[in-house]
Amino acid sequence: MIGLQSAGAIGDSNSSDLYREPLRPQVHFTPPAQWMNDPNGLVYLDGEYHLFYQHHPYSNKWGPMHWGHAVSRDLLHWENLPIALYPDKHGAIFSGSAVFDRDNTSGLGSAARPPLVAIFAYHDHAIEKQGGIRVESQGIAYSLDRGRTWIKYAGNPVLKNPGLRDFRDPKVFWMSSIHRWIMTVAVKDHVSFYSSKDLRHWAHESDFGQGIGQHGGVWECPDLVEMKVAGEIESRYALLVSVNPGAPNGGSGTQYFIGHFDGRRFDPDTQGAKWLDWGTDNYAGVTWSGVPASRTLWLGWMSNWNYAQALPTVQWRNAMTLPRELKLVRADAGFALLADPVHELNGLRKTSTPMSNGGVEHSKTLVSGDANLSAPFELMLDLKLIDATLISLVFKNERSEATVFRINRAEHRFELDRAKSGLTDFAGSFSNLQTAPMPDTDRIKLHIFVDKSSIEIFINDGQSVFSDLVFPHLPYNSVDLRTDREIEVVDGTVYGLSSIWEKTP
Ligand code: FRU
Repeated sequence: MIGLQSAGAIGDSNSSDLYREPLRPQVHFTPPAQWMNDPNGLVYLDGEYHLFYQHHPYSNKWGPMHWGHAVSRDLLHWENLPIALYPDKHGAIFSGSAVFDRDNTSGLGSAARPPLVAIFAYHDHAIEKQGGIRVESQGIAYSLDRGRTWIKYAGNPVLKNPGLRDFRDPKVFWMSSIHRWIMTVAVKDHVSFYSSKDLRHWAHESDFGQGIGQHGGVWECPDLVEMKVAGEIESRYALLVSVNPGAPNGGSGTQYFIGHFDGRRFDPDTQGAKWLDWGTDNYAGVTWSGVPASRTLWLGWMSNWNYAQALPTVQWRNAMTLPRELKLVRADAGFALLADPVHELNGLRKTSTPMSNGGVEHSKTLVSGDANLSAPFELMLDLKLIDATLISLVFKNERSEATVFRINRAEHRFELDRAKSGLTDFAGSFSNLQTAPMPDTDRIKLHIFVDKSSIEIFINDGQSVFSDLVFPHLPYNSVDLRTDREIEVVDGTVYGLSSIWEKTP
C-alpha cells in the first residue's frame, strides 16, 4: 500500500499522512488503503452499525473481492477492522447482506449466542475464464463475536447457480408475518425472490423486472424494504435496484419501485422507474438491517463504473455517500422516496455562520475565501425565486476551479456542472452536464455537503438529490449565489464541519 505512485494524481501519500491526503474525504467513509466498491452486509447490532464493503486489498483497482469491514456507533466515525471475508474455493466474495439471526433459525449459533449471518455472492473467476455459465452462487458465513471473526458455513454454497450467468448480490430480511427469511437476488434483467426458514435452504418464489423499469444495463444490488408511508398507518415495500449502465446522467444509478409484497410476489404500484439520485456518483446502495426506531438507513457507493478505476487518487480509491434516511411519501404523482442526510451529521458542526436574509439582485458571496472556512462544510439555504429564471450556486477554490449548481426554471431543470471543477480529464464523460427535472415551484430549500472530493445536494427535503465526485486541486472554500433577477434568501447558514477521522467518540 505504501509507495504507490501515479503521475498526475493529487493524493500521493505515505502512511503517516493517512486520512490527511489532499483529496481524502473528511466526512465520508473511505477505506484506509486500496480499492473499494459496494457497501455490503449493512447490519446494526448492540449499538454498532456494521459496514462491510467490496474490497481489493492488494491494489487500487478492482480485483478478486474480499469484504472489508468497519464499525461505527453514530454512522459517521468508523473504526477500521480486519478483512472479514476472503475468497475461498467457491470463488471471490461479491456483494451481499448480513442479518442478526436472533432466534438462531440457522442453528449456526445457540439460543444464548445467536449468530450474525452474512449472505453473499460467490463469483468463481476460474469458471468465468473457461466461459462457463455457473459462475455465481450464494454462500453464508457467521459470527458469534459481534462480527469480529467469521466462519464460512461448511455446506456452502447454500443457493447453487440455477444456470444463469448473472446471479448475485443477495439481500435478506426477516418477514415476521410469514416467519421466513426473504432473499432478493439480481439476475441480469430482473430480480428473483427466494424464501427460507433457516438461511440455509432456499426456495424460489417469483421474479420481477423483465420489461419493467430501466434496462440500459445489468440489474445489480437489489434491496426490498418495508417502509411506513409518512403520516399514515399504511406501509408499502420499496424495491431498490441498481442498474449499470442506464442511469439518467450516464453509467451507474439506482432506480426504485414502490408496491406490495406478500412473501411471494412483488406487485408494483407503477411500472416506471424512479431515481434515487440524479448525480452520477451514487450506486449499489442498500439499507441497514435491524435498525432501532424503524428508521430506514441507507448508504451508497459514491462512484460510477464509467470511471471508478481511473479516479485521481492513489492511496485509496472510492468513497461511500453520506449515510441517509429514506422516507416514503404519498405525493400527487404517486409514491416517492425522499433521501435526507442522517441527523447524526449535525454533531459534526463546529462553526455556524448565519447569512444575512433578504433580496439578492445579481450576486452574493455566501462563503468567502477569507472566512477561514474550507471543505468539509455544510450549507443550508432557503430561497424564494420570485421571477428569476436562472439561479446559480458556484462552489470554487483559489484556482478558480468551480462546480456549479443551477436552478434553470426556463428549462424546468436542475443542473450540475463540473466541467471546470478541477481534475476532469481522467474520464471523457466526467465533464458532461447533469440534469434533473425541476418541479413547478418558486421555493427551493437546499441542504449541501461539500467535502474534499465530493458535493452532495439535497433539494427540498431530499425530493431530488445530486451526489457528485469532484477533484479540485485545492479544497473549495467559497460559494457565490448568482441570479438573473431578484430572489430572496429566506434563511441560510454555513457550518464548518469537523473531520470524522479526527477522533472516534
Ligand atoms: C456492483 C457489483 C455487484 C457485484 C460487485 C462486484 O457494483 O458489480 O453486482 O457483486 O459489484 O464487486
